Amino acid sequence: MDWGMKNRLSKIIKPKDGRTVMLAVDHGYFMGPTSGLEQLDKMVNPLLPYADTLMLTRGALRNYIDPTCDIPIVLRVSGGTSIIGKELLHEGTVVSIEDAIRLNASGVAYSILVGAEFERDTILGMTQYIDEAERYGIPVIAVTAVGKEMVRDARYMSLASRMAAELGAHIVKTYFVKDFEKVIESCPVPVVIAGGKKQPEAEALKMAYDAIHAGAIGVDMGRNIFQSSNPVGMVKAVNAIVHKNATPKEAFEVFKGNKK
Ligand code: 5RP
Repeated sequence: MDWGMKNRLSKIIKPKDGRTVMLAVDHGYFMGPTSGLEQLDKMVNPLLPYADTLMLTRGALRNYIDPTCDIPIVLRVSGGTSIIGKELLHEGTVVSIEDAIRLNASGVAYSILVGAEFERDTILGMTQYIDEAERYGIPVIAVTAVGKEMVRDARYMSLASRMAAELGAHIVKTYFVKDFEKVIESCPVPVVIAGGKKQPEAEALKMAYDAIHAGAIGVDMGRNIFQSSNPVGMVKAVNAIVHKNATPKEAFEVFKGNKK
């Protein structure tokens, strides 16, 4: 692995503890103005001091984020479907590696949909992108999307995560499930969890805690932060779990703002 790749990975996975809080606000590429992100800059700017990286689309980066910001960027580079289309998550490349480099991305994110009838398109799309990214030392985060008809269990997440890693992804983003340690132990690259649909803050914090303690290196969380009743409190609370080994109870106090 060359110096550049290692350096970029260190911007995503913090060397001090090997963990990461990725703030995910890339939802607009298939959901449009997602609740909480209607004015993305107003929501995101107060959260940045507590996140290690920001995951978003090139349009969000160019139109909402100040180029003087110093947070490492993970760029969403797959897409091509919408929530009202017939083949949601039948994604392909939507950002060239040159544009990702131009936008100074520290990493890129590409979704695959294992188990869908079009799985091959998404997998080949990701591997072609990995080949290009490798040429420039850009790490690829495989997003193991899960279609509505798929069973979200350790068997499925293990299959999708291990496939992504075997095919060359440098980090895998998947979903927390029961027996998550099985997913971790069979995946040879670092794993982060997506937060998934909004749930009560205490439950989301417990999920992050359990994922970390099952071996995930962190979270790539969006809706459970920016749709929270207290987004700043929530990102601080997630940060406390990931980087300060806070318990869910302690983190909930941080969320409520009681904890300094
Ligand atoms: C949307 C994504 C998001 O980055 C990912 O799902 C994390 O966001 P959330 O915590 O809201 O699920 O890939 O397709």
